[in-house]
Amino acid sequence: TDLTLGIDIGGTNIAFGLVNQEGEIVFEGNLSTAEVRNPSLLPELIEEQTQNYTFREIGIGAPSSNTFSGMIENAPNLRWGVNIPIVEYFENYFKVPTKLTNDANAAAVGEKLFGAAKDFSEFVVITLGTGLGAGIFINNEIFNGKFGTAGEFGHVMVDKDGRPCGCGRKGCLETYCSATGMLRSIDLLTSPHKANSPLVELENPNPLDIFNAAQQGDQFAEYIIDFTAEKLGYWLANFACFSNPEAFILFGGIAKNGEYFRQKVDHYTQANLLNLYQGKVQVLSSELHHRNAAILGAAAYAKY
Ligand code: BGC
Ligand code: NA
Ligand code: ZN
Repeated sequence: TDLTLGIDIGGTNIAFGLVNQEGEIVFEGNLSTAEVRNPSLLPELIEEQTQNYTFREIGIGAPSSNTFSGMIENAPNLRWGVNIPIVEYFENYFKVPTKLTNDANAAAVGEKLFGAAKDFSEFVVITLGTGLGAGIFINNEIFNGKFGTAGEFGHVMVDKDGRPCGCGRKGCLETYCSATGMLRSIDLLTSPHKANSPLVELENPNPLDIFNAAQQGDQFAEYIIDFTAEKLGYWLANFACFSNPEAFILFGGIAKNGEYFRQKVDHYTQANLLNLYQGKVQVLSSELHHRNAAILGAAAYAKY
């Protein structure tokens, strides 16, 4: 049969699946990124779960990856060091053609083929997970830049004395606007309501705890969400100046927590847009289950 192996490598999980011609995932598997100490062993670990299937090609989405060189160049969130020749590992092991793209680019391809971006030619998918990623479509195509690594919006520096980032610099957007950024906000933001917030007592909070607390009326949690949405909206309004997109599509763990967050980001985006763009940029949420979309996008990219 005609199956493609799609792999989404994230800071926390590695999700993979076998995708058929109709864009259906016929098998799905998972690994914890921390357990994959040596990325050269990844093909073997995936084969342990997929040995009942054969596939024709492989598509991989991963942070800080270069589609031209086939390497994950420098992804601190993965803790694998630099210049990982991931395409080579997979081609040597499985002997099928393998393509690599940025994880957010894979998500954008998924949204274009199967999700909220079907009707758009100019859009940006913003992934909010361990980091913040951007997959930029211009003129109906993924925008790669000269050397294959365009769209590193998570490392746009928004505060020169800001929070330290995994990239070694300070004040990158993803240190505020991402799952990990929101968790850092629990420690780093101050508010008159902080002392009464259940969040400060939690030992291992996750972003869902922040959304749940806000829903129960915790004003410190509301403040964190508002702070995150305001910063993100402000920067989306700035990014609109770059490629005049018709939409930003929020994707990933945080975006999944809903309409409440999307509306706030939309509000702050619209409030800051240049008059040229007013009323012409939508802020939408992914219509796909985010892990599936990333797998589908990576698989689709293999044939792209
Ligand atoms: C990386 C991007 C990636 C994003 C989301 C950032 O830290 O630099 O390449 O798309 O995280 O994983
Ligand atoms: Na990208
Ligand atoms: Zn950074």
